Amino acid sequence: MSIVVVILAAGMGTRMKSDVPKVLHRVCGRPMVAYVADAARELTGTRPLVVVGHGAEHVQKALGDLADTVLQEPQLGTGHAVMQTRAALEGRADTVLVVYGDTPFISVETLRLMLDRHANETAAATLLTFRPPDPLRFGRIVRDKAGHVQAIVEFKEATPEQQTIRECNSGIKCFQAEWLWSHIGQLPVKHGEQYLTDLVELAVAEGRTVAASDSDPDEVMGIDDRVRLAWAEAKMRARINERLMLSGVTMIDPATTYIEASVTVGSDTLLLPNTYLCGKTILGHGCSIGPNAVLEDSVIGDRCVVKASFLEGATLEDDVDVGPFAHLRKGAYLCRHVHLGNFGEVKNSRLGPGTKMGHFSYLGDADVGADVNISCGVITCNYDGQHKLKTVIGEGAFIGSDTMLRAPVTIGKNAVTGAGSVVTHNVPDGALAYGVPARVKETQDSSA
Ligand code: UD1
Ligand code: MG
Repeated sequence: MSIVVVILAAGMGTRMKSDVPKVLHRVCGRPMVAYVADAARELTGTRPLVVVGHGAEHVQKALGDLADTVLQEPQLGTGHAVMQTRAALEGRADTVLVVYGDTPFISVETLRLMLDRHANETAAATLLTFRPPDPLRFGRIVRDKAGHVQAIVEFKEATPEQQTIRECNSGIKCFQAEWLWSHIGQLPVKHGEQYLTDLVELAVAEGRTVAASDSDPDEVMGIDDRVRLAWAEAKMRARINERLMLSGVTMIDPATTYIEASVTVGSDTLLLPNTYLCGKTILGHGCSIGPNAVLEDSVIGDRCVVKASFLEGATLEDDVDVGPFAHLRKGAYLCRHVHLGNFGEVKNSRLGPGTKMGHFSYLGDADVGADVNISCGVITCNYDGQHKLKTVIGEGAFIGSDTMLRAPVTIGKNAVTGAGSVVTHNVPDGALAYGVPARVKETQDSSA
């Protein structure tokens, strides 16, 4: 059986009360529609076709090469949406599977079960149905006395009796492709829309079978509002955390450990409460992170410790310890055995192996050698109002407390700056500079 997947994602998602198209709302850092596209690709090995409309460019951009897209403009219902895919898909496969873009939990197994039933019953269409605890406004599955599916009735058009039916339409369906393309043009217009669900009645009228496959409500219920979005976030978070714990990561409290779908964590790493791992973060083996740490797009080596700190776009080699209360910004690169203590900020700077920066300092646009001591309150004055300027500190240097390094400036290897000095000129290797502005201390030999 050859299959193509259509993902409907053109609707506005009114109940989100948002300027952002519904399918772009994120669940654990990823737009909902990306999860659906993943499932489709895993099922078929090819890219799905996504019907876009509201915020089309944004949806297209978010999908990148996960999917192809086709535009539905204006949006005149789910049937009308599928009609827009006909030119691209007719003749390409013998089964067309339609999924909604707001069901991030849909699994490949569930789709396969539905497709098996579809094939076994040689049905014109097969519906994925579910029985939610509270059927609300979902379309209801109408069956005859013998139990054969007869129609899907939208809640607003259902009779009071039909409204008591508990079996609901998830919206996920598959069709025999030839039958779909020869009937999609016959959908009636209701309230200005064409409903995909009305194909069921057309098939039944022709004596064709419409099959139904039951499914887990949690998996297929669309994420329509922010309450449901928060539910989805919690469910996805639990799933991610469980996968990581089973792979050897310790979490003191998974309920307060927030990890986005794109993050990887090495085994024997300990994650303490209120840890957020986001974006393209990669964590090594045997680390301890948190409590109260945020790591975004950061790469962390093995055996690192990060306590109560904020890291964005930072890189830590092995055996680095950071915090509490440090802020590493984009381009912070800490080599092996660096110690960065409390209230330190580092931006676009490299700290060589074994360098220590214990308290209250700022390094921006600096290149710091190995085994340097940055004492309390050191600041690189790296911005002259127009340009970012560089500071170089040679290995083994000792930068005294409260030193201002007015960039561009170079401190030589093993050089020392006195407490409170304002360094405006380069300091040679091994020299001591002190005072405001700092002068290099003359040695016995040169003053003689
Ligand atoms: C739909 C079903 C309903 C089902 C429910 C499950 C129809 C007519 N009704 O109702 O039986 O119980 O889903 O969640 O299908 N879309 C487009 N273009 C459009 C309209 C919608 O692409 O012109 C997309 C939306 O972006 C969304 C999906 O189709 O991803 C479903 O649309 P939505 O408006 O949420 O339909 P429901 O009213 O929820
Ligand atoms: Mg919906």
